Amino acid sequence: MSNGLVSLYKKYEDYFPIGAAVNPQSLKIHRDLLINQFNSLTSENHMKFEALQPEKGVFNFTVADELTAFAKEHNKLVRGHTLVWHNQNPAWLFQDDDGNRVNRDTLLARLKEHAETVMQRYKDTVYCWDVVNEAVEDTGPEVLRQRSPWLEIIGEDFIEQAFIIAHEANPDALLFYNDYNESEPAKRDKIYQLVKGLKEKDVPIHGVGLQAHWNIYGPSIDVIREAIEKYAELGVVLHVTEMDLSMFEFHDRRTDLTEPTEEMLERQAQRYEEIFSLFREYKDVVTNVTLWGAADDMTWLHNFPVRGRTNWPLLFDMKHNPKPAFDRIIKF
Ligand code: GLA
Repeated sequence: MSNGLVSLYKKYEDYFPIGAAVNPQSLKIHRDLLINQFNSLTSENHMKFEALQPEKGVFNFTVADELTAFAKEHNKLVRGHTLVWHNQNPAWLFQDDDGNRVNRDTLLARLKEHAETVMQRYKDTVYCWDVVNEAVEDTGPEVLRQRSPWLEIIGEDFIEQAFIIAHEANPDALLFYNDYNESEPAKRDKIYQLVKGLKEKDVPIHGVGLQAHWNIYGPSIDVIREAIEKYAELGVVLHVTEMDLSMFEFHDRRTDLTEPTEEMLERQAQRYEEIFSLFREYKDVVTNVTLWGAADDMTWLHNFPVRGRTNWPLLFDMKHNPKPAFDRIIKF
């Protein structure tokens, strides 16, 4: 308890850790909230490739070290995010000294050096890694996202190579494939096929990360349930890695609101309530639930994907007070 408020993570102690994405600023301004309400942390941006190795062979651990020190001091888990992604890579990674694209062996060697350096450094603090992020195509017949330098340079087996490298770098870390739109049936089935193929080849993969960037209208609880059941068939654990519930449907472009309506807050509370109840039901497979932020004053959904629009997707409001959604997920 702190300020008379129930602690979310303590309330969920018999279910799963409750996480939040953090950045250097939020570690300061959400400090009390993070300490009292969450027991798992994910770096929003500072464990990505471009942040950790901005220049070839030159690592920058300043922010990641601050985060892991904070986690250690306050007894929080840390999820590692992320090793292989098509975004937020330094330009040097895919180029040789003449600016030409490197070949497969060079890129694999660079990934190996990166993974070893980073995963060894944080082996006592980071218990799991999103090894590959967002490699599956959303629509159409292709399983893999085609416009990815990893796929283009290494070839289709870049995913299994990444898991093998990560497992060698730290055999104790739990290794995840992580993606968004993970509950949409078409993409869900592709992710399922991908992971099934990896398991059949004995590739060291231990979990599927459901990003869960959802909204107050969808996906429906049935669709989420089906996704959980389908992924669970693979014999892997599931982490909800980046959850938030936007107040707007994906195609809604309205920008007129300066605060959420009562109706929105109520709908959001109902959605959080039913979704968390579902997660509790599947606590044997859902083993971490992380929100993509702690409070509404800091979310990637301000100005994205609609410029000039504020959003309120999280459990605590702009002033860090609990929202109706918070009250509902601690009542069970
Ligand atoms: C994706 C990535 C995250 C983050 C969000 C936006 O979901 O996995 O690392 O960049 O987009 O904040």
